[in-house]
Amino acid sequence: MIKKFLQFQSQEEREWLLRKIMKDIYPNFQPGRCNPLPRYSLDEVALTDRYSEVAPSDVDLSVSCGNIRLAAPLLTAPMDTLSGSELGQAAFELGMGCIIYRHKKAEVQFEWIKQIINHSPCFVHQPKTLGSADTLEDAADILQKYHYSTIPAVNADKKLLGILFTKNAALKENVSEPVTKWMTPLKDLITIKPAEKFEIVRKRLLSERGCSVLPVVDDNGVFCGMYFRKDCRPAKPAYHNGKPLVGMAVSVNPEDIKRAKKGLELGVSLIVIDSSHGNCPPVIEQADKIVKIIVTIAELYGAAVIAGNVASIDGYLRLAEVGVDAVKVGIGSGSICTTSLVTGVGVPMFSLIRECVCTREYLISEGKHAPIIIADGGINNTGQIVKALAAGAHLCMAGKYFAAAQESLAAVDSGARAGDLVYYRGMASRGAIRDRSASFRYGTGKQAPEGVEGFVECRGPLKSWWPQDEELICGGLSHVGAATIEDLHKIGNEPYIWSLLSSAGQRQMETRVLRE
Ligand code: XMP
Repeated sequence: MIKKFLQFQSQEEREWLLRKIMKDIYPNFQPGRCNPLPRYSLDEVALTDRYSEVAPSDVDLSVSCGNIRLAAPLLTAPMDTLSGSELGQAAFELGMGCIIYRHKKAEVQFEWIKQIINHSPCFVHQPKTLGSADTLEDAADILQKYHYSTIPAVNADKKLLGILFTKNAALKENVSEPVTKWMTPLKDLITIKPAEKFEIVRKRLLSERGCSVLPVVDDNGVFCGMYFRKDCRPAKPAYHNGKPLVGMAVSVNPEDIKRAKKGLELGVSLIVIDSSHGNCPPVIEQADKIVKIIVTIAELYGAAVIAGNVASIDGYLRLAEVGVDAVKVGIGSGSICTTSLVTGVGVPMFSLIRECVCTREYLISEGKHAPIIIADGGINNTGQIVKALAAGAHLCMAGKYFAAAQESLAAVDSGARAGDLVYYRGMASRGAIRDRSASFRYGTGKQAPEGVEGFVECRGPLKSWWPQDEELICGGLSHVGAATIEDLHKIGNEPYIWSLLSSAGQRQMETRVLRE
């Protein structure tokens, strides 16, 4: 069904609503010429604990954006050091949304999207293999070079002979012995057929005792690849219309309507209209036109449309009026962002989310279309994620947080591993401005940087560290008695739930012992 657009609100209506909401949120505030509004960042507030019967393991972090259901409330930022096919595949496997960045060549963006859409979760296509004549010395080489300890052995026709688990083989003492002597032979292995559904694979891997891998073998005995239990355990792949969940960024450039249409045809589930300032006349007029067309076609595919960024009630309302499913809020808060410094503009994230949430609640109470809120920028740890969600955001978009993943574009480029430094830069940094074409995100001919370039420490593959972060986020919800993000939103609205931290209080949140 095609979504009916909202009636436009008049400027008077918008201003009336703005005053009403500000009065609700800041009842003691005396507006005056020299009276700055006390707005707070996420680091200045903390949640109070509540009686809770919810264990962290009972918490469900899934959330909807329009018709799209994600298993985790996170989106990767569409940035050129982050969001390509590798991060997209990793994010999909964990039920997050990767927003593929607007590469200057549309074909590259489409290619990455296709790679994600054709990706079988957790399936290792071409693991390193040993031949029937190979010795334990060859196995030791693979172990040393690639750190792979589970190595399939195949014959000349690629038929599976068995699997060598290096921990079971005395590699050093028996270097010249054949692998076939030490491997677990095919007859003692559980195998599966290529077409097996991921959920079945996962169930088998988690339920069969002693089964740490599942080799895939076709009807002719040919080895096709392998599933590992350690990969499958944290996986919660999210699908839409039977296809892996992935998003793409487009600009307000009319040319990008074609991009969005093509992306939707390929199976993209989230279209992000990506602008650093979503609330100014040229952008709104153009975006309004584009969003309407995209919303119409996106509805046909059941995809969700996201637009931003705004940092005001007015901006949220204007994007709500054009019918987007989600509004990205945040200006000046990103880790690589210098907008506040160089332009003097920026709104602290906690208060910004609260103001937009109250506006959203008003729209809901009036039966109007009310987009969900995505907190974007400066959300780099699990505590900030919990606070942004409790403040009322449904999703968090993050850059620096995902730059630490071994699958980020920059990490893949440099071959970074856990502990290495990985390049990460703002899309309005000097380097990004230099590298992109005129038609890129931050507008034609923009030369003055509003972002910086730097490095973050790589934490390894996303799948290796997300489970711990997920546990911490679930721990945050459990502390306040929330089993779901919907519960958390209600709790975040309760009186006395938030503390405003003094500078001493903020210091208390930091570790105060020397770390190695
Ligand atoms: P984090 O803190 O997650 O922020 O690294 C990512 C978000 O920052 C925005 N962004 C920028 N903002 N100058 C800015 O002012 C820039 O160069 C820049 N690059 C990205 C963007 O919203 C992203 O999601």
